[in-house]
Amino acid sequence: MLTAFRGEMLSVARDPRDDPAAVRYEPDGLLVVEDGVVVARGAYDALAERFGAVPTERLDGLIVPGFVDAHVHYPQLDRIASHGEQLLDWLERHIFPAEQAFAERAHADAVAAAFLDELLRHGTTSALVFATVHEGSVDALFEAALARDMRIVSGKVLMDLGPEGLRDTPATARGESEALIARWRGRGRLGYAVTPRFALTSSDAQMAAAGELLAAHPDVLLHTHLAENPRECAAVAGRFPDAADYLDVYDRFGLVGARSVFAHGCHLTDRSCARLSATGAGIATCPSSNLFLGSGFLDLAQADRFGVKLALGSDVGAGTGLSMLHTAGLAYQAALARDVRLDPFRALYWATAGGAAMLHLSDRIGALEPGQEADFVVLDDAATPLMARRTRGATLAERLFALQILGDDRAIRATYLRGRRAGSMS
Ligand code: GUN
Ligand code: ZN
Repeated sequence: MLTAFRGEMLSVARDPRDDPAAVRYEPDGLLVVEDGVVVARGAYDALAERFGAVPTERLDGLIVPGFVDAHVHYPQLDRIASHGEQLLDWLERHIFPAEQAFAERAHADAVAAAFLDELLRHGTTSALVFATVHEGSVDALFEAALARDMRIVSGKVLMDLGPEGLRDTPATARGESEALIARWRGRGRLGYAVTPRFALTSSDAQMAAAGELLAAHPDVLLHTHLAENPRECAAVAGRFPDAADYLDVYDRFGLVGARSVFAHGCHLTDRSCARLSATGAGIATCPSSNLFLGSGFLDLAQADRFGVKLALGSDVGAGTGLSMLHTAGLAYQAALARDVRLDPFRALYWATAGGAAMLHLSDRIGALEPGQEADFVVLDDAATPLMARRTRGATLAERLFALQILGDDRAIRATYLRGRRAGSMS
């Protein structure tokens, strides 16, 4: 059964910094979908003869691939906008108490449902998500994602040096992660990530266990935080005086490879950048979070000098919104603060195909190419009166940039998962 969607279409399949031809744009495009998968895409005029008889929905707005949030914490949804602290104090005061409530499955179910519905409302169809230390927090998220047909990658948080009431052990970390991998592997559009919180909350024995989990399961990802905040970096240097730098702490336990996703990377050594690039590990940059917690910003010129793989994360609850448009707009401002001009097409790449590449899902999502799943959003570049004024008669690049600087959930007209319009389930 074929269906089709007709409208203005834009995607960026590869980093346009390396390949300007990666930007693909059809002012009047046709996307033909069979069983949720794109079978053809191109200019309407070119495809009308073959697919003109297919039932076609006309979409008013700019169609782009569904957004990929490469780093976000679902249990922190209700602690967004918590006032007054940098990272380590913010965790103690606002976040750890909130995460303790996820010991209760009913609470996890309720927040997971609200979180995923919010992602969809913001045009995010795929995400790499922190749960909590509780095994049930992952079950809650995966069940809710399965019910919505979303692409969610997550895992139980490992934190045996965490605060009282939010601590596991190397043995439970391994056993519960193994059980979750066995229970969820191959179901729906889900994936697993071994998720040590960060170097300060895992013992050496637990980081070694995380490395063994990765070695035993080549299909899973590694997801953690790296070099986010100056005080965190100082504490890591204090605990690991023999490590060459922060990344080296993870490297010593076998946690750095092509399937590793590190959030932030605001304070990286050249050596770390070279190592990230050589291994194919990626950085999910989270500019709204970095501004909110006073952490600093990714040095984009440094990352680009070494060819580090990059994507974009909201990092809610430290991030100030789930919108990947808003996050892209802040990525521009963060880059410019360090004297680099981030191109809006590159920011769109980070928020779509770049995120897909970081999650090793390029064959499935990210660019609305034939063979990929038909996850897409319809953007409204006149969502507010001011946006309408700014985008009237503007070029495509200007409109995309205005969407990133001025847009948020108001600019999401509709979200589609595998060719079906998504609605709220909670
Ligand atoms: N580092 C360790 N845990 C966290 C967290 O929950 N949020 C952020 N932003 N950084 C962290
Ligand atoms: Zn985070």
